Amino acid sequence: MKGIILAGGTGTRLYPLTKSISKQMLPVYDKPMIYYPLSVLMLAGIKEVLIISTPRDIAGFLSLLGNGQKIGMKLEYAIQEQPNGLAEAFTIGESFIDGSPVALVLGDNVFYGSDFGSRLLESAELKTGSVIFGCHVADPKAYGVIEVDDEMNILSIEEKPENPKSSYAVPGLYFFDNKVVEIAKKVKPSKRGEKEITAVIEEYRKNGELKVNIMGRGLAWLDTGTHEALLEASNFVEAIQKRQGLYVACIEEIAYRRGYITKAQLVELAEPLIKTEYGKYLMDISTERNLQPNK
Ligand code: TTP
Repeated sequence: MKGIILAGGTGTRLYPLTKSISKQMLPVYDKPMIYYPLSVLMLAGIKEVLIISTPRDIAGFLSLLGNGQKIGMKLEYAIQEQPNGLAEAFTIGESFIDGSPVALVLGDNVFYGSDFGSRLLESAELKTGSVIFGCHVADPKAYGVIEVDDEMNILSIEEKPENPKSSYAVPGLYFFDNKVVEIAKKVKPSKRGEKEITAVIEEYRKNGELKVNIMGRGLAWLDTGTHEALLEASNFVEAIQKRQGLYVACIEEIAYRRGYITKAQLVELAEPLIKTEYGKYLMDISTERNLQPNK
């Protein structure tokens, strides 16, 4: 399984913050936003990731994350010329995907919860069809909304409906088999002029190849598209980290615990950051006893 982070868009709801930098480069508490979706793909066991962003912003991500080697990953970069919609990720990424199944995560989505890692590993085993998630939200109108029957079969999926048929929104994390590229190529722009991911999902649903995993109360899904949501996400991450003493979306930690990098490599990453809590945290992990990597 390969992974794509879609980190383009215009971020107009965050103006003036995003007038000159990418939304996905803004801080969510103590780290750049893109660390969060990147950590999701890493937790899913995905090591090859394509980062897609705008002509203006792509260089910033390259300078932040490089080729990924330092965290045991293989990162590539591609440009989306215009924010033509999420489904374009698969056509832009066609040669990167190269016939493999692929996970797509949106660059502004933050997930945190118990058991999330094992759910991700399970989803990444997908060989055919597709897996999406459903999260109960207070205001489904702002999202893609699924309608499910008692057996959890999806009856419909609608993008930002006026009258939502349920309170289950689809978060920005999707797993597809290798048919997704051909399906995405056929998607026509919607009324709002975007190649919608819901059109791709609808195609899988029609073919009986769509599975939905409903996320329980134990999982927090936050999006960060408005000033209020961005601040709430930062406050959430701060609260968890301070209380538990465990970091959310610490990519160096995940790389170490998953066995992608050695203890010496972790120390090397921690040293330049040692004046920060983040750096001290990494150093603490490197000296942790009874640590069992790969867990
Ligand atoms: P949105 O939040 O829908 O759009 P946006 O980021 O441009 O923000 P705004 O509505 O404030 O103008 O995008 C969701 C995510 O998908 C976000 O991480 C940006 C990304 N995206 C792309 O990379 N390309 C696209 O064509 C679109 C529509 C979104």
